[in-house]
Amino acid sequence: MLKTHTCGELRIEHSGTTTTLAGWVNRRRDQGGLIFIDLRDRWGITQVVVDQSQSPEAHKTASDSRSEFVLKVTGSVRRRPEGTDNPELATGQVEVVAEKIELLNPAKTPPFYLNTEDEIQEITRMQFRYLDLRRPRMQKNILLRHRVIKFIRDYLDSRGFVEIETPILFKSTPEGAREYLVPSRVHPGKFFALPQSPQQFKQLLMVAGYEKYFQIARCFRDEDQRGDRQPEFTQLDMEMSFVEREDVLQLIEGLMTSIVEQISDKQLMYKPFLRIKFQDVMEKYGSDKPDLRYSLEAVDVSDIAGKSAFPIFQSNVAEGKPVKVICVTGGATVSGTQLRKDTSELESVARSAGGKGLAWIALPENEAEEVKGPIAKHFTIDQKLELFGRVNAQAGDLLLFMSDARKIVYAVTDALRRFVATKMNLADPNKVAYAWVIDFPLVEWNEDEKRWDPSHHLFTSPNPEDLPLLDSDPGKARSLQYDLVCNGYEMAGGSIRIHDRSLQEKIMRLIGQDMERAQERFGHILEAFEYGVPPHGGIAPGIDRLIMILAGEPNIREVIAFPKTQQATDAMVHAPSKVETKQLEELHIAVTAEEEDTAE
Ligand code: AMO
Repeated sequence: MLKTHTCGELRIEHSGTTTTLAGWVNRRRDQGGLIFIDLRDRWGITQVVVDQSQSPEAHKTASDSRSEFVLKVTGSVRRRPEGTDNPELATGQVEVVAEKIELLNPAKTPPFYLNTEDEIQEITRMQFRYLDLRRPRMQKNILLRHRVIKFIRDYLDSRGFVEIETPILFKSTPEGAREYLVPSRVHPGKFFALPQSPQQFKQLLMVAGYEKYFQIARCFRDEDQRGDRQPEFTQLDMEMSFVEREDVLQLIEGLMTSIVEQISDKQLMYKPFLRIKFQDVMEKYGSDKPDLRYSLEAVDVSDIAGKSAFPIFQSNVAEGKPVKVICVTGGATVSGTQLRKDTSELESVARSAGGKGLAWIALPENEAEEVKGPIAKHFTIDQKLELFGRVNAQAGDLLLFMSDARKIVYAVTDALRRFVATKMNLADPNKVAYAWVIDFPLVEWNEDEKRWDPSHHLFTSPNPEDLPLLDSDPGKARSLQYDLVCNGYEMAGGSIRIHDRSLQEKIMRLIGQDMERAQERFGHILEAFEYGVPPHGGIAPGIDRLIMILAGEPNIREVIAFPKTQQATDAMVHAPSKVETKQLEELHIAVTAEEEDTAE
């Protein structure tokens, strides 16, 4: 090793010893005869003092050094002079008096400061990601990621799980998102597909008898980018044999609880995790991945509102459309006035979610005053009292009314909850609120394609109680799918699987796969299902989303060493990129449309 200690290691007890450090110049202060260098490596920062009178050569090198130069420093450790300790540094009580400094590598001036937390344009950070990764925030995130993954491996290993790698060159078997395809050179006109997840391999590993499998698996999906989505991302992919839903939920709950409690500085809000049925989660929060750090539940008041004199509510209720209310605690108070005064902002949130408008009633802080809001006059006193009782409204609360087709009410509920929570700072950044969503419908009607689509994927088992519904009313059949949600994100998805060939074929037919096509795509699974399949189930938490929440970051790019941009490009290596005509010819590929070079 070129160094004897790290830059985060030296303490008072090292005083009087000789050390050799190596790292980057984090900061340099030139005071003429004395130069101070903060030398940085992954473990920390140590102050180096270079005294011209004692070490003229070292002083010359220090004087020529700039930020981010790579230096090797040999010298003696000493207690810092009285009053110059730096409590912010773990090494802040000592300094190294340089005897020899070797310049290992110079550096150009970086395009941004690495030693501050300044906001830097993301595209620049992505272009120079290797510099961005030197910054403390990124180092913290990447190290947290390492610790979480190591914890997961140890946790599962000690419970009998085996980590098994599965292929990246896979077959095109649509699972939901669009796939990335890889042309075959040796088989003209044929393609591999990159796996959207190792779903089929993990089920085949259960057929193969491995019983408890996991993998830190890279997955690839060509879908629209969002803050919580990347074209390639990482899952903790798991599958277990001879289990029921409860076994999977318990295992993951234990794992996630331990991770939060032992590795992060966040607090769990719900222990055990909440469990909510899909139907209820939609009715209360309008989303199957609600942020449960705050309440803001939508409450059905159709029966009361339908009797009011407000014509829209009357006609909507007559048509079977619900009227729902979100009660914003304190939304009409002085501190919450922003909301009450600016209901037009709330209204535009409702409109952009598909709503036609937003009605509201505000309860003044002083109970002697009249309630406010354009629809208040349409309710009798008794109706108002019944309403306030239903939503548990108190003086100073603001009631937001939504009425429309159920799906629109869901979208508006979700949008309003997120907006109000942001505006009123309701989501505590130090809290982690986990909940299981269960009892999903097995299939959803796809109006465009006029067919049933699986809610999760086609290997998900129907709830055995609902098997008869598959023939009579498939939309009502529940599945054994479960999602783990956390702070407004879908953190994991999984299910108990079908392990019976005839049921698997039945589901394939239900979702409109003709059997010839299904045989072509999934023949391997159907065939395997004839050779002794254990009942099995699994789940896949998204590692990037987990780390994002534990690190308190706003998007998953902050916790991935080399992420893609929001345009699904790599701005550092400039990918995707054009390739040589010869390469295309070898792959038997003709490019028919070309884009200007926009990959950044
Ligand atoms: P699913 O498609 O629900 O299930 O994905 C599981 C989890 O993976 C994460 N995730 C993503 N993270 C970042 N970027 C993306 N584009 C992205 N897409 C998904 C989420 C999600 O909850 N094979 C099944 C699992 C199973 O049934 O066992 C699957 O992949 O955190």
